[in-house]
Amino acid sequence: EKGNYRHFMAKEIHEQPEVIARTLGHYIDVGAGSIRDDTIPVDFSEVSRLSITACGTAYYAGLVARHWFERLARLPVDLDVASEFRYRAQIHPADELPLFISQSGETADTLASLRACKAAGQRLATIVNVPTSTMAREANVVLPTLAGPEIGVASTKAFTCQLATLAALAVKAGVDRGVLTRDNARGFVDGLVEAPRAVADVLHLEAEIERIARIIAPASTALFMGRGPSMAVALEGALKLKELSYIHAEGFAAGELKHGPIALVDDTVPVIVVAPFDDLFTKTVSNMEEIAARGGRIIAVTDARGAHAIGTTAEEMIVLPDAPAFIAPLVMTIPLQLLAYYAAIINGTDVDQPRNLAKSVTVE
Ligand code: F6R
Repeated sequence: EKGNYRHFMAKEIHEQPEVIARTLGHYIDVGAGSIRDDTIPVDFSEVSRLSITACGTAYYAGLVARHWFERLARLPVDLDVASEFRYRAQIHPADELPLFISQSGETADTLASLRACKAAGQRLATIVNVPTSTMAREANVVLPTLAGPEIGVASTKAFTCQLATLAALAVKAGVDRGVLTRDNARGFVDGLVEAPRAVADVLHLEAEIERIARIIAPASTALFMGRGPSMAVALEGALKLKELSYIHAEGFAAGELKHGPIALVDDTVPVIVVAPFDDLFTKTVSNMEEIAARGGRIIAVTDARGAHAIGTTAEEMIVLPDAPAFIAPLVMTIPLQLLAYYAAIINGTDVDQPRNLAKSVTVE
């Protein structure tokens, strides 16, 4: 049921504070400020490598999480899209944990990849949203996202719940591997617990984001860029825009700007820059200046501290409430969902059922 919303997608975007909180509650003991051992039956002290495989938006969740596992747990991560992984000459080390991320738990390429690892004798884990799915049945360790049924074809709440689950998993990995002390872990857990509130605050900016979507809607190409975890958020933002509004969109690492994408920049091309005030911020601002110098129309997604430094370099800014750097990918995703949603509404496309797309890709 859509309730008071025009589309399932709008409803699902607005459900995010609640479903992220529910997902986090499953993995976090909020009172103790720690990760619950009972819901993550993985001992990361026995794992020396993580291999993450997924498709589309779920792959971008993995791309964010690679930063978390490396930084918090010093755990090396291999990452690939399932359609590539399944046909590679795979290597299955005994101390590797394969992790498959999927909303539906039925995606053909991801399932085939899971089965290949299983056939090789590996113990494997899956992050799935549909608890009765094939992947949930076949994995050894099932880490549910508690987003509830996602009806809109474009993934929104499933993605942010995947991020919440992966963040909790990375903290657990950090503790298990002796990289994080209990106190360090508590700091990250406290940050995570702030996510639902921060996401709710972003939703209050909806009218402003709708206004900014008017800049994007008439464009034939839009660029999205960021660095570090924000690069993955930029890729997800580009995917959302192309799926929903049919505007060609390309996401890339901001540091790649000079290696090609800058050739596309002119005053008809909106460039959406994901720029939280983190340790890579000044690098991203340099890239913004290069775009501004060529007449590109910058829409910066940042926070209060970032906005101050960006100043007039950007034509528009979506200024999000300050949040712990750890949860920035979760928070920064929300305005990109809304930009894509409103650009699609302005362009009159079918938001819940974009052309040519299926919710569950059960054939390759
Ligand atoms: C994008 C989107 C797709 C899916 C992909 C994987 O909005 O929904 O890119 O993320 O098809 O689907 P699951 O997560 O069901 O394996």
